[in-house]
Parts: sequence; C-alpha cells; structure tokens
Amino acid sequence: MSDNLTLPAQQSPAGASAEPLLTVEGLTKHFPIYGGFPIKRKVGAVQAVDKVDLTVGAGESVGLVGESGCGKSTTGRLITRLLEPTGGKITYAGHDITHASRRELAPIRSEIQMIFQDPYSSLNPRQTVGTIIRSPMEVNGIEPAGGREKRVRELLELVGLNPEHYNRFPHEFSGGQRQRIGVARALALQPKLIVADEPVSALDVSIQAQVVNLLQKVQQEMGIAFLFIAHDLAVVRHFSQRVAVMYLGKVVEVGDRDSIYNRPRHPYTHALLSAVPEVAVDDEPEDRERIRLAGDVPSPIMPPSGCRFRTRCWKAQDKCATEEPPLVRLSDSREGHLTACHFPEEPTTEARDEDIVLDPGLKALEDENAGTD
Ligand SMILES: Nc1ncnc2c1ncn2[C@@H]1O[C@H](COP(=O)(O)OP(=O)(O)OP(=O)(O)O)[C@@H](O)[C@H]1O
Ligand code: SF4
Ligand SMILES: [Mg+2]
Repeated sequence: MSDNLTLPAQQSPAGASAEPLLTVEGLTKHFPIYGGFPIKRKVGAVQAVDKVDLTVGAGESVGLVGESGCGKSTTGRLITRLLEPTGGKITYAGHDITHASRRELAPIRSEIQMIFQDPYSSLNPRQTVGTIIRSPMEVNGIEPAGGREKRVRELLELVGLNPEHYNRFPHEFSGGQRQRIGVARALALQPKLIVADEPVSALDVSIQAQVVNLLQKVQQEMGIAFLFIAHDLAVVRHFSQRVAVMYLGKVVEVGDRDSIYNRPRHPYTHALLSAVPEVAVDDEPEDRERIRLAGDVPSPIMPPSGCRFRTRCWKAQDKCATEEPPLVRLSDSREGHLTACHFPEEPTTEARDEDIVLDPGLKALEDENAGTD
C-alpha cells in the first residue's frame, strides 16, 4: 500500500470524543413470516436483531462477533439503513436516522459506507474499476479538486493497487485485490464510519492479514470509525479497540479489547475464546479446559425464553429460562465492560492470549503493533 495517504484525516482517534459518533439503542429487526391460504397473513417473525445497544466513537473501531446467524449482518444493514428497523433508535452524529427517508439521509449518506464480505459479488463485473470507484462520487454529485479520475487513481494507490489498472474489469483481479477495490469504493466519499461485514472471511488466510493491515491503516491514519463484523475472534482482536459479542440477535457482552479477551464474564464469550482450531491442540496448556459448544444456534423464529444462550450453556439454571439477564456491569468488571448473564464466570486473572491462534500473517501484524503501542 502507498505510504502517501492523500485524503484528509477525520476526527479525533479512538473514541476520544465525548459523544459517540454512532449510538444504537434497543435496535430491533423482526422479519415477518407470512403463511396461510387463500389469504396470506403474518404467522410469525424471524427475530434477527432484538434490542441491541451499541456505540461507536469517532475514529474508534468496534468489533461485532458471533456465530453464523446471530444477526451481525442485519445489524450492519440496519445501521447503514439498507434495512428499515422494526424498533429502537439509531443516532448518527446527533441526528436520529432510525426512520430517515432517502432525502433526509442524503446529507449524511456519504459519511456512512459499507464494505461487504464477498468481493466477487459486490462488484459489478461489467464495470471497469474506475467506474466502480467513481460512481459513489457521481451519485452524490461530488467533484473533487483535480477531477474524479484523479481521485480514483489516488484511491487505487492508497489501497495498494496500480493506478494504471483504472480501465480493468473486476475479473482481472485476485480476491484480495477485489476487496481492495471495495475498500477504495468505500473511501471515495471520505466516510466517517465504515461498516465492514466480514471483509476478509472470503479471502485466503495468507491474504487476510494484508487486507486487515490495509483497513487498520485506513482506520488509524484517516481516523475513520469502523464497525468490524467477524465470526473470527482473532481478526477482531487485532483490529478493534472494543468488542461486542452477539448471540441470537442480542449483544451478550461488550467491553474494551483487553477486558473481553483477558477477563471475559459471559459463558458464550468463554466458549468463543476457547474455540481453537485443531492444529493447535498439541500445543495447548494441559490445565486449560477447552469448551466445545454443542449444537447449532437455535432458530431466531422461536428463540429460547429468558437467556437465549441457555440451551447451550453449561451453567444454566431455572432462572435462566424465566428471566432475561440484563446487559450490565458486573462487580469486578472494568468500566464499560457489560455482561448479560445471571451466573457469570469469575474474571480470570491469567491472560488468555495463548487461547487465540492467529495465522502467521496476523501474528506478525500483532507483534508489529505491540512494538508501536
Ligand atoms: N431478509 C431476511 N428475511 C428473513 N430472515 C432473514 C433475512 N435476512 C436475515 N435473516 C435471518 O436473520 C438471522 C440473522 O441473519 P444475519 O445474516 O444477520 O446473521 P449473521 O450473524 O450475519 O450470520 P453469518 O455469519 O452467517 O453472516 C438469520 O436467521 C437469517 O436467516
Ligand atoms: S444467564 Fe444462565 S444460561 Fe444465560 S449465559 Fe448466564 S448462566 Fe448461561
Ligand atoms: Mg453475515
């Protein structure tokens, strides 16, 4: 990637502002299910996202983690207003955008961008790279100094691609390069918030670290806030200052990176942290208990009563079936570390870093970061 970042830096870094850039309160999305004959009527709903609270500070990167089907993408699409919320409130830079119309959203539309998981399907195969990256500027009527083509070439260089490839088509690029095109497109309007929905999970492991590195540079050097969605705790730890753990439509634990990785309180977070790939088993410390989560996430059409995790939780008791645990700060948890559990784990004092197996590329990046912290 080019060292010469030509776009201006945004606001103060790392959630330093008093007011979060983005505040999500009680955000809910229930997709209706229709049935019946001959008259169709609503017979149920997929409770994809249910009363989620979340904040992202200006320049901060927040990870959103959970198993498949937990509602991560739906949350991202609600925030970027690609989906209409069923309930709750989304406040962006002091504006209530929960149900804002296209016209009302227009002034801030350019400030919130999304990077998608699949770099193959998210780029129009019939358009050149130049057209793809230029089109957000055209749609929003933005004419940068020096013209759009010049800006596109700058963006290509910024994301580590050859500006001479302006007229090439997406199929001429590898997966990692296509994701870089997606990043350049997201940067075209100088956003303040990027929702990145599993931006590296479709890429080869060896390429993942390069793209994460690019995103991290963008976040740090341009001060762009990120909501980084992933099911992989290793990637999120590398990228995020705070992490929210989601289970079946709910945020069950949230906190700064060290709290979540070193002092997790929710059983589900413990389970995610101890999910170590097969290859690492030989190296695991003998005294550390591995938690294997049994079964799949239950259906969000009929989620379990009380605590939604109770059907897979080894600590579940009667109360867990009757009372939903609130997301609160527990005694012995740091400020800002919130957990939704009636019978939380004791905070661990020993570091769990060795539980997380990073691929060599990400490990190298972490080591590099540790040296610059
Ligand atoms: N348009 C839709 N209509 C009905 N149900 C939907 C729709 N979109 C998502 N869902 C359901 O909502 C739930 C949450 O889906 P979502 O895609 O947000 O999960 P996710 O955490 O992003 O999963 P993954 O890791 O697989 O991407 C799933 O049960 C999914 O089937
Ligand atoms: S509330 Fe009960 S079921 Fe839910 S995570 Fe805590 S102990 Fe487990
Ligand atoms: Mg998803």
